[in-house]
Amino acid sequence: MSLLVCVTRRDNTKLLAKLRSLLPDVEINEWPHCSALDRVRFVLAWGAPDDLWPQLPNLEVVQSYGAGVDGIAMTLLPAHVVVTRIVDKQLAADMAEYVLTHVLAHKLRLRQYFTQQIQHSWKPKRAHQGMKVGIMGLGELGKVVAERLIANDFRVSGWSATPKSLPGISCYSAAAQLSEFLSELDYLVCLLPLTEQTQGILNRHVFEQLPNHCVLINVARGRHVNEEDLLWALDNGELAGASLDVFSQEPIDATHPFWSHPLITVTPHCAALTSIDTACEQIAANYVALINNEQIDNQVDRARGY
Ligand code: NAP
Ligand code: GLV
Repeated sequence: MSLLVCVTRRDNTKLLAKLRSLLPDVEINEWPHCSALDRVRFVLAWGAPDDLWPQLPNLEVVQSYGAGVDGIAMTLLPAHVVVTRIVDKQLAADMAEYVLTHVLAHKLRLRQYFTQQIQHSWKPKRAHQGMKVGIMGLGELGKVVAERLIANDFRVSGWSATPKSLPGISCYSAAAQLSEFLSELDYLVCLLPLTEQTQGILNRHVFEQLPNHCVLINVARGRHVNEEDLLWALDNGELAGASLDVFSQEPIDATHPFWSHPLITVTPHCAALTSIDTACEQIAANYVALINNEQIDNQVDRARGY
């Protein structure tokens, strides 16, 4: 029995050292250096190629090296395989700090003042007054982001797949309540998982239902956004700005229009980064649970895709 690490496009030296220190007696290989694929029962995956899965006849658990599981081709996995992910208080706190910072940066016109500084231009203006933030996705991250915004006097509403009742949050759910949720927002934050239902959800139809002064903050996945529609909305006064941390292709191409758009702030998928230490503790615990035939933590619902 062995554990395979298939975390692509990054240096995994520290990750492997930490895992090996927590699981000293376990055979741990790093893809593609694994000669006995039939011994692999547990895979730690991030950006794993689709053709990996059919090569693992004894696979039982796939653990995402992050909160999102959209990079794992679940339709290619046998039905009995458990898919799990990282759920981490610090990750949620980092996300809340990122979102609060970007909401405040737009509210206080920081982007405008950075440009004015370059131009040596002195033009004070009152901060934007809007305090209504809508969060798409009220899961592990959305709920913590909401709490942080409420603690900073914002009025928070949230939209989820199933109905919820959460203290201090006006809750909406499902397609039937999306228009009502969108109609009065000053800031729209996307914290949805990427699924068949949510891909492309941030599109012209949604932008047209938001007030024109609304600012989009997308910290979920790039493929939630229809990029052409976003550029249309910003260029036609349907949206006032966007902070984007995630993109359909990462890193974005050097010629991508988002880099130089005056109303877009780009960050390099850094809103909430997985901590090697916390993640490895959860991975090791799940590996031990598998060996002992115990419950695997933080499982996702494969039918829902999140
Ligand atoms: P989560 O706990 O799975 O929560 C997902 C939320 O989205 C739930 O409230 C769910 O509703 C809602 N939802 C799912 N499908 C929906 C639909 N079709 N319509 C309406 N609501 C829907 O996810 P999480 O841990 O909060 O993470 C969210 C995402 O953040 C991740 O999937 C990942 O893509 C992204 N992320 C980004 C970064 C970054 O650095 N930028 C870091 C970590 C994570 P129900 O509660 O009713 O099921
Ligand atoms: C990062 O994007 C994650 O899903 O953890």
